[in-house]
Amino acid sequence: MKEIDSGYRKLILVCVNEREAGEAACGSRNSKEIHLRLKAIVKSKGLSRTIRVSRTRCLGKCEVGPTVVIFPENRWYGGVTLEDVEEILNRHLEPPE
Ligand code: FES
Repeated sequence: MKEIDSGYRKLILVCVNEREAGEAACGSRNSKEIHLRLKAIVKSKGLSRTIRVSRTRCLGKCEVGPTVVIFPENRWYGGVTLEDVEEILNRHLEPPE
């Protein structure tokens, strides 16, 4: 194997895991829409080449999901709603120079 340069400065993971009905899971709490909204905003800001927004399976915080994690900050957000998406991104974007 070899290390590769991703070219990304940030990685945003959105849990879209699904479970049986009645079990806590981000996938049944609007996380797919949250993922799409995050991607759309990143794209609209022209940041798709530096910020990767990816869906993922369970991150181990099902009871407090939908779960979103930002790296390299290692900042975790639970109970995320569509209305939170813009604020989460703004918290982690570098100010314009
Ligand atoms: S189902 Fe999303 S953190 Fe477990």
